[in-house]
Amino acid sequence: MTPNPIKKVGVVGCGLMGHGIVQVAAQGGCQVVAVETEQKFLDSGLGRIDKSLAKLAEKAIEKGKPADAAKADAAAVRARISGSLDKQALADCDLVIEAIVENLDVKKALFAELGRICKPATILASNTSSFPIGEMGAASGRPDRMVGLHFFNPVQLMKLVEVVRTDKTAPEAFAAARAFGEACGKVPVACKDTPGFVVNRLLVPYMVQAIEMLDRGDASKEDIDAAMQFGCGYPMGPLTLTDYVGLDTTLFILDGWVKRYPNEPAFRVPKSLREKVAAGKLGRKTGEGYYKWEGDKKA
Ligand code: CAA
Ligand code: NAD
Repeated sequence: MTPNPIKKVGVVGCGLMGHGIVQVAAQGGCQVVAVETEQKFLDSGLGRIDKSLAKLAEKAIEKGKPADAAKADAAAVRARISGSLDKQALADCDLVIEAIVENLDVKKALFAELGRICKPATILASNTSSFPIGEMGAASGRPDRMVGLHFFNPVQLMKLVEVVRTDKTAPEAFAAARAFGEACGKVPVACKDTPGFVVNRLLVPYMVQAIEMLDRGDASKEDIDAAMQFGCGYPMGPLTLTDYVGLDTTLFILDGWVKRYPNEPAFRVPKSLREKVAAGKLGRKTGEGYYKWEGDKKA
């Protein structure tokens, strides 16, 4: 494993993805500051981290780790995490990872601000699912320090991180981001700055096909999901997965691609996806998407 040169990390956005990134960075030994827009969002993200650390400690104890040591490890990770509503707290970070809403204009405005606030050596990273890293690097004014660090949901359990370089990313910034991903316990894969990188370029069109199959009435959602679970060994079917990712995030990804690549037939928005988002049915996070949810489990 390459030594990790990143000691202090900032994470902007402490939602579904951000809270997990904060946690794995702290588990990897980094000091981490999470930045949110409102105290209630920060409290919610830090609360999720507390729950996840308690669960992981419970699992370690089940596997034979002494309870005192497991609890002390969790407390040490938690002690490396702080929260702030002020982006100035990011000024001295070695790496700042953005995990805010999937909207390119909002992300570019944030990177312009980070370019002004952060020390010159800070590496800037986006966890975007679909937007060009190069455009965010240009907005930051430091395109050579810009990378993609694309984690997967749930961050605490999924082993992959895509490390994305643009044609302007400096080799040492890319190497540092990759070493950081390894320190977080992830398997890094190198990607070019293409739409959806590797995973989402394959996965999102597959989710679209599944939703359209349901919309046409070809099969029930339960049967589509069971088919992919038991026919292909996927851990969850595509409609459960869409609920898990968030219907809003899936729609933001597809709308962005349709606008940017109108001639790519794989990029299109299924009818029921737009209707459900308009109705506020965003998936697991709102209690209903393609399925109904009670907390983290399907009802
Ligand atoms: N922290 C700690 N523990 C957690 C946890 C977390 N965040 N989330 C779940 N767990 C625990 C659960 O509590 C459970 O513990 P018990 O066994 O004690 O009950 C255990 O982990 C397993 O979880 P589940 O019971 O939910 O069952 P599972 O075996 O189905 O595993 C899963 C869950 C790992 C999510 C698995 O279903 C899976 O791999 N699903 C596919 C996820 C996927 O494809 N993710 C990628 C989405 S796409 C993306 O992320 C990119 C993008 O840009 C959109
Ligand atoms: P989310 O809505 O759960 O969280 C976003 C958080 O960012 C919210 O808590 C919000 O308050 C905060 N935020 C918004 N603007 C902000 C700002 N200017 N400053 C600070 N905080 C701000 O969304 P999410 O699902 O965590 O997605 C975040 C990013 O990760 C998106 O780019 C998404 O495409 C990407 N992503 C999502 C998934 C997934 O499965 N949901 C997987 C991989 C990558």
